[in-house]
Amino acid sequence: PRVAVVFGGRSGEHAISCVTAAGVLGAIDRGRYDVVPVGITRSGRWVLVEGDPAALGIVDGRLPEVPADGVVVALAQEVGSRELQPVAGDRAPHDLGTVDVVLPLLHGPYGEDGTLQGLLELSDTRYVGSGVLASAASMDKQVMKVLLTGAGLPVGPHTSFTRRRWERREQECRAEVEALGWPVFVKPARAGSSIGISRVERPEDLAAAVAQAQRHDPKVVVEAAITGREIECGVLEALDGGDPLTSLPGEVAVVDGRSFYDFEAKYLVADEAVRLSCPADLPAELTRRVRETAARVFEALGAEGLARVDLFVCDDGRIYVNEINTMPGFTPTSMFPRMWAATGVDYPDLVDHLLQLALR
Ligand code: DAL
Ligand code: MG
Repeated sequence: PRVAVVFGGRSGEHAISCVTAAGVLGAIDRGRYDVVPVGITRSGRWVLVEGDPAALGIVDGRLPEVPADGVVVALAQEVGSRELQPVAGDRAPHDLGTVDVVLPLLHGPYGEDGTLQGLLELSDTRYVGSGVLASAASMDKQVMKVLLTGAGLPVGPHTSFTRRRWERREQECRAEVEALGWPVFVKPARAGSSIGISRVERPEDLAAAVAQAQRHDPKVVVEAAITGREIECGVLEALDGGDPLTSLPGEVAVVDGRSFYDFEAKYLVADEAVRLSCPADLPAELTRRVRETAARVFEALGAEGLARVDLFVCDDGRIYVNEINTMPGFTPTSMFPRMWAATGVDYPDLVDHLLQLALR
């Protein structure tokens, strides 16, 4: 089958998507799949990205980017054919053939949030991962919490406000934040990789943190800080249509004294700043509950294909769901593939499983 691997994109997580693509393009079984690497530039141009995928990784702390000089491709499709026809644009003609399945390795808005999924649905094209609603709902931390709460899943204390409400009723918003107790985490509702997030210790610093989050999304979510271990769990849809499969959980521990698992710790100084333990050292009963909760989160959001569920596990055994990511970071050293490797599914098999799910 022919696979279009799509990455980059218009979100703040453009670079992380490139790093994910570097891993996947390097591992995909070329004997089995014919790969068309399609990058989306920061400005939204779709281009063919040829050459060594390793160039899309983080080299010397420099974040990668989709090169803007590739052949521009458009996607054309006869509805009902289930094949996508990439059409070369403004450069030399390029015969790309047809594409059987799209692997959207995009993080953040315009990729992980249902918009690309909508485009692919409109053209009746198979793709890996969650559909429109699950992608959109999982991208939006406020909507996600509403759905999780509705499904009886435990989420931490939080509040949320649009830019309009913050501007017109700041006192009301502040009172809701105050009720959470300090510190709080101030987050853009729809962003990832900790972009735009601040930890706020005192009321005087709230406005700056809200402004910072609003640079990424007019809707802001404020969460009470939860004292607990940061545990993550991978979920995969089963090829036989059975219950979702869950990985052994992993644990993230920030070790260099910073106040949370921020962008820098995630990608730039990960070696010094964080310790990823996989599998997490948890009692068997807690491991079982984490996995069961992750599967319930996957179901509650109606996710498909894959997801990583992030949780807090408190000393008293309580579990809170922090979030679900429908296209988790997927470099060979990211938590999602590491958790699956610890569970017996290695990186190439993981990619194959996802493609097989979409091609069913
Ligand atoms: N949003 C990043 C890529 C993650 O969840 O891993
Ligand atoms: Mg997370």
